[in-house]
Amino acid sequence: MPEHMDQPGLAHPPGRTALVTGAGRGIGKATALALAVQGLHVVLTGRHEQRLHEAVGEIRALGGSAQALVGDLADEGFWQALAALDRSVDVMVHNASQPAPFGVIENVPIADLHGVMDSVLFAGLRLARLCVPHMKQAGFGRLVFVGSTASELGAHGQVAYAAAKSGLQGLVRSLALEVSRFGVTCNLVEPGFIDTERTRGAVSDTVRAALGARAAVGRAGTPEEVAAVIAFLSSPLASYVTGVCLPVSGGIELGLK
Ligand SMILES: NC(=O)c1ccc[n+]([C@@H]2O[C@H](COP(=O)([O-])OP(=O)(O)OC[C@H]3O[C@@H](n4cnc5c(N)ncnc54)[C@H](OP(=O)(O)O)[C@@H]3O)[C@@H](O)[C@H]2O)c1
Repeated sequence: MPEHMDQPGLAHPPGRTALVTGAGRGIGKATALALAVQGLHVVLTGRHEQRLHEAVGEIRALGGSAQALVGDLADEGFWQALAALDRSVDVMVHNASQPAPFGVIENVPIADLHGVMDSVLFAGLRLARLCVPHMKQAGFGRLVFVGSTASELGAHGQVAYAAAKSGLQGLVRSLALEVSRFGVTCNLVEPGFIDTERTRGAVSDTVRAALGARAAVGRAGTPEEVAAVIAFLSSPLASYVTGVCLPVSGGIELGLK
């Protein structure tokens, strides 16, 4: 067990299950690993079977318990398979988001607007709707959504993405009001600039270095640094934190607002 996870209150009692969307790589995969270390059985979802199976293999090699559920958040079949799982979800992390192409709003195809809004916001609403009844009944639940500092700062050429992630702020604050009295917390983690395959593919090395340097800590974050915060908010220890929209950004927004 990594040293920072070896604290009373971070581990879950046996028998609990976590669901992580977009868990085949990047922040989602790091989160799945961190939650498995906390003793949760982890259901990893995403569209790429191979990536998910590799991540499940890594968790099992560490002595954890995990399974893959392959599917697209846009497909009804995926939601049916999720509803038919033989486990109830105690910890739900909605990390997946379909990237929208960079471009001014008038140039973004309608299908791409749907892709980002549906995978981030509509899927987030639907996951909450699916998971909350069991959590309320059990008197324990953790709902963690992955947003973006784009909600706080705006993002030129990424209107749909920022709109979808901003929608998660309203979702989280309102859902927290509905569920927190039942032992269910609901929070939003907002990464700043994190070094993942997605960001490596999206911007040049020069731009990446410049974006990392803009953070107060002077560098890009790692997926593990975001996962550690998600794992804390998912833990029994975080029982008095709810409705929070928390930047995990190395302070990239400081001085800009
Ligand atoms: N990296 C950053 O700097 C940064 C900054 C702010 C916010 N974030 C947010 O952090 C989260 C993770 O980012 P990341 O950098 O780790 O990128 P990533 O690897 O692209 O993670 C997104 C995941 O979502 C899954 N996904 C996308 N569309 C899907 C769909 N329609 N159905 C099911 N799964 C879908 C992808 O898996 P498959 O392709 O296998 O389906 C992918 O693994 C995202 O929500 C992102 O917006 C990242």
